[in-house]
Amino acid sequence: MPPFVGRQPELALLRARLAAALAGQPQVVRIEGPAGIGKTALIEHFLHEPGVLPAPVVVRASGEDTESLLVYGVVEQLARSAGGSGRGLLAAVSGDAPVPVHDPVSMGSRILELLDALDAGAGVVLVVDDVHWADLPSIQALVFALRRLVADPVLALLAVREDAGAEQPDALRRLVSGHLGSVLRLRGLDEQDLRDLAAELGVEGFEMAAAQRLRYGTQGNPLHAKALLEEFPPGEWGPVEHPLPPPRSFRLLVADRYAGRSATTRRLIDAAAVLGPHCPLPLAATLAEVEQPLPAVDEAARAGLLQVSEARQPWTLSFPHPLVRAAVYDGLGPAGRHVLHLAAAELVGDTATALRHRVAAAAEPDERLAADLTAFADAEARRQAWQSAAAHLVDASRLSPDPDEARRRVLQAVVWTVLRGDAGTASGFRTEVESIPRGPLRDAVLGALATAADDPVTAQRLLADAWRDRRPDPEPEVEATVALLTGIHHFGRLDAAATVEWCRRAVAASAPHTALHATAQTYLLHGLGYAGQVAESLATAAAAEEQPGAPNRLWLNPRSARGLLRLVEDDLDGACADLHSVATAARQLGILNTAAFSYAYLARAEYVAGRWDDALVNAERAVAINLESDLGFLQSAVVGIAVLVPAGRGDWATAEAHVAAMTRQAGAELGYERSRLALGMARARIGEARGDPAAVVAALQPVREFAHRDATDEPGFWPWQDLYAEALVGVGRVDEADDFLVPHERLAAERGRRSAIARLARARGRVEAAAGRPEGAERAFAAALAATEDIELPFERGRIELAAGSFLRRAGQRRRAADLLSAGERRFAQLGAGPYAERCAKELAASGLKPTARLTRDRTELTSQELVVARLAAEGRSNREIADELVVSIKTIEYHLRNAFQKLNVTSRRQLPDSLDAK
Ligand SMILES: Nc1ncnc2c1ncn2[C@@H]1O[C@H](COP(=O)(O)OP(=O)(O)OP(=O)(O)O)[C@@H](O)[C@H]1O
Ligand SMILES: [Mg+2]
Repeated sequence: MPPFVGRQPELALLRARLAAALAGQPQVVRIEGPAGIGKTALIEHFLHEPGVLPAPVVVRASGEDTESLLVYGVVEQLARSAGGSGRGLLAAVSGDAPVPVHDPVSMGSRILELLDALDAGAGVVLVVDDVHWADLPSIQALVFALRRLVADPVLALLAVREDAGAEQPDALRRLVSGHLGSVLRLRGLDEQDLRDLAAELGVEGFEMAAAQRLRYGTQGNPLHAKALLEEFPPGEWGPVEHPLPPPRSFRLLVADRYAGRSATTRRLIDAAAVLGPHCPLPLAATLAEVEQPLPAVDEAARAGLLQVSEARQPWTLSFPHPLVRAAVYDGLGPAGRHVLHLAAAELVGDTATALRHRVAAAAEPDERLAADLTAFADAEARRQAWQSAAAHLVDASRLSPDPDEARRRVLQAVVWTVLRGDAGTASGFRTEVESIPRGPLRDAVLGALATAADDPVTAQRLLADAWRDRRPDPEPEVEATVALLTGIHHFGRLDAAATVEWCRRAVAASAPHTALHATAQTYLLHGLGYAGQVAESLATAAAAEEQPGAPNRLWLNPRSARGLLRLVEDDLDGACADLHSVATAARQLGILNTAAFSYAYLARAEYVAGRWDDALVNAERAVAINLESDLGFLQSAVVGIAVLVPAGRGDWATAEAHVAAMTRQAGAELGYERSRLALGMARARIGEARGDPAAVVAALQPVREFAHRDATDEPGFWPWQDLYAEALVGVGRVDEADDFLVPHERLAAERGRRSAIARLARARGRVEAAAGRPEGAERAFAAALAATEDIELPFERGRIELAAGSFLRRAGQRRRAADLLSAGERRFAQLGAGPYAERCAKELAASGLKPTARLTRDRTELTSQELVVARLAAEGRSNREIADELVVSIKTIEYHLRNAFQKLNVTSRRQLPDSLDAK
């Protein structure tokens, strides 16, 4: 082991985190600091500290600068380092698994399985070094897995260079700022540490003054300090008053060392630097044209320029530190690098690596290389490695001699990234796209990036330019793309008419059975629904499904749109069936934005149908999938749905945390109407549950001012009207509420949507009562009750009973009031809607009657997670199956089951069905 000094507080912190993890509170620690500050060394030392605790199992991986496009490269390393337990994960990465795994969520589940398999009681430490170079899919999968840990004894250490921090994926930042996470920043070593280091390196008589100079010259960076101490004994530093050590960068120190080696050794070091952070020795020797490499290896190793690992055949060469490699590589100069990369491309076997060398060698545009890159990108796209596909297409574009071709390639890359909903990756191309000369596709892509960034004003301008400048005939695909992106923009603005118009254009201009066509169709369905043309929308959905020969994945989106329409039309069973089937299939296929959408709306349907525990679990899933894949555009709607159950149950902390996540999203206050309405409704639900009408009015006031009314007001899609009207009554603006309701009531009656009619009738009853028109109130409440008579809408029904009961009590009709209020109270208690049940109880008490039902769920009651897990277990599913279904670890399932057993007072799974029935 190399010498190690100082860092006692840091080690103590890591020990504490490990202890917490082993006690069942999983931990994620991000270790950050500049290059060479000692992140890797700290982790190494921590892992090799003798006997602190029973040795946990360690799995590790490291990002590498040449492999950041290698899809799941880091996950693969983790799997390999886990030995036999990693076999399943390895199969998933290499595509050998029975069900191929592409998407980060499924890959994340496999990582959870691995963590389960590894933990043999001593806990697991998962290390990912150089996270800034890790491939994005691996990071997403890891973040997904780590976020889903609940009671697992896992400590994750993630080392990141601090200067790379800004580019970290959002998901990673959120993970570390979440409740499992903490940050450990490494600063330079202090004078005493440096003196210890000098002593360890055998430098004698290293006084405090020298230590101070060394600290001043290196900022305590151990890499730099070590190199200086090794290179120049302090005796040679000259007089104290000189600002010594001279400002020699680490790079120059490496260059000096390198210059002192023999020509053969230098050739071998050069070859290794070009081949990457590590390479097989024979390959480096061949590239360097060195027949007997071992003496050269020895010489380089003695000088601290290379290291050799003999663990496996063939031996591998690597650099003692990434900065050593960077210094050698830069020192080669453009010409030297060109020659070596070209030669390397001929020597290496796999296509991706050969292409990487050819790109690095390319001094000028090269159509043959560009075409090869394009072909490779197509192949990557076919296996859904989108990030890699897009990046190769961008390389191809940079190397295309024909400027038109170049443009087309990069724009294509971004269009697909955007349409997949991967706003994070897409926005990474913004500068690239901006540098392209103006043209319809370029403008449309920039417009789409603005849409993804929740900036409707910029999007509108760019998309309009794009449409004006298009040339329909020679480029139907461009026309279709511009039209679709424009349609999506209008969808976000809640402008139903324009959504329909633009999506029709996109459908007409695109070839059938293409993803473009299917996406256009999907937004058309939503647009038609928003425009009140549900029958036509359903007919279009049916046609989309029946297309012979259409690949499976193409009907998913149309069917999810149909699920939403059914929900709006109060066909809750139909909605759940559609949304559930799409969610499952989409997750398996790795189409994450569709999966998130479907889980979210499934949750909303379950919420309406009174299955709040399922709703809670499915909404959580939607949020997990949505956040992990950086899908900005959908986020607000999904998170808004996740607020429903916590708000209804008075779980303010959870509800507010979701709202905070929504407002963190850029532009939530000024952006697309879709985001703003979702946010407003989330706040309004919380306000209503809290009994704070002023908050509800404030949250929904902006919605009244939206320019486009058709989608905003279409009954059933965004049910904000009754919340708003009731809140107006609550703050004493009764007349205004009266006027406000009229057009909405008319529209709901026209559409014949019963739940919408019921909601508005309830609000109407409140208005009439407050306005001193008891007959009107009677009529309205009776209508509301009738509309919900034979559909299962327990929460809505309860709200009506509460409103009607309160009115009747004040009107002196105690008996009828009590009947309604007790019925409402029972319903609310069953849902666990504490704040609402309490309101019923208060009303009952005020009328001199005793509350009948238990008010809130007591401690012995199962949480939603416990209940859902217990139900699945009662159906006879294994923990592994349940873990897979709910996308959590087996430890988490065991944890919930243990709690459920305790609360239900049972000892085995066989007792579960009976005791659940008794509940
Ligand atoms: N506390 C320490 N005591 C002694 N030597 C150290 C210490 N920390 C780091 N070093 C030495 O400094 C050098 C750089 O450390 P290390 O590789 O851990 O840096 P790093 O932060 O991981 O850098 P990078 O971001 O480039 O990966 C190594 O040679 C290491 O042995
Ligand atoms: Mg390191």
